[in-house]
Amino acid sequence: MAAFPCRMAGDHVVSTFYPYWPGGDMTPAIRRDVPGETVDGFASEFVCMPAHFFTKAPAGYTHAEAATLTCTGVTAWRALVVCGRVKPGDTVLVLGTGSVSLFALQFAKAAGARVIATSSSEGKLQALRRLGADAVIDYKAVPDWGEKARSLTGGHIALVGVLTGFTAQVSIPALFSNQIRISGISIGSRADQEDMVRAIEANRLKPVIGRSFALPDIAAAFEEYQSQQHFGKVCLDL
Ligand SMILES: NC(=O)c1ccc[n+]([C@@H]2O[C@H](COP(=O)([O-])OP(=O)(O)OC[C@H]3O[C@@H](n4cnc5c(N)ncnc54)[C@H](OP(=O)(O)O)[C@@H]3O)[C@@H](O)[C@H]2O)c1
Repeated sequence: MAAFPCRMAGDHVVSTFYPYWPGGDMTPAIRRDVPGETVDGFASEFVCMPAHFFTKAPAGYTHAEAATLTCTGVTAWRALVVCGRVKPGDTVLVLGTGSVSLFALQFAKAAGARVIATSSSEGKLQALRRLGADAVIDYKAVPDWGEKARSLTGGHIALVGVLTGFTAQVSIPALFSNQIRISGISIGSRADQEDMVRAIEANRLKPVIGRSFALPDIAAAFEEYQSQQHFGKVCLDL
């Protein structure tokens, strides 16, 4: 791990999701020591981990803001920028108002793309517009929201979430005839995170944080997340 840039004492840092994935393609070997999954994570006042577990955080970010980046920020970055190769004039469809979608909306607008966003509530649809969405669709009021969105989009699909279940039917001929490319996304690498931090600083982006809870109220924070009432990240303040 010596090849990883070391952090200096006093640097403001943020954890990486896969500390053993420096960059490039994912390999089985990088799936070791995933904080919060296979080893202890960061729901604690102090942690002691190797320097390569971290990257620099964006300048001016609080710890809570920086903590939003490791999973959902990097996931949206990899889906949109690394695999999706978004460019000015593209159209990006983001589903729901979870943190992955809100980061994707912000990165897409920063890249000069047009964004179509969906949600199930009027208040959240308005919030999406305030964040820069060019068109919004209420996916409960418009059951064929996919048809409506499809007529405005086409091309690459980044597969991120499992909110409607672990399996789905896919029409293979439709993939051929529409030249569709599907990418499975599993967060991203340290290099992805470093690129994203640079982009965040250059575009002065801030994450959307819904509610914050004190560390002892961690159970309430999970309940808030489970309620699906949140808009953006649910955070723990230390
Ligand atoms: N592959 C990866 O690397 C990776 C990384 C991070 C997260 N994920 C996955 O990505 C998904 C989103 O994560 P998140 O943290 O952004 O989620 P989240 O905060 O839980 O938000 C989910 C939002 O999606 C919408 N939604 C829920 N059920 C839906 C349905 N059946 N159809 C359409 N929209 C629905 C809702 O939006 P409205 O309230 O606006 O209707 C909901 O608020 C999760 O499945 C998560 O496990 C994957």
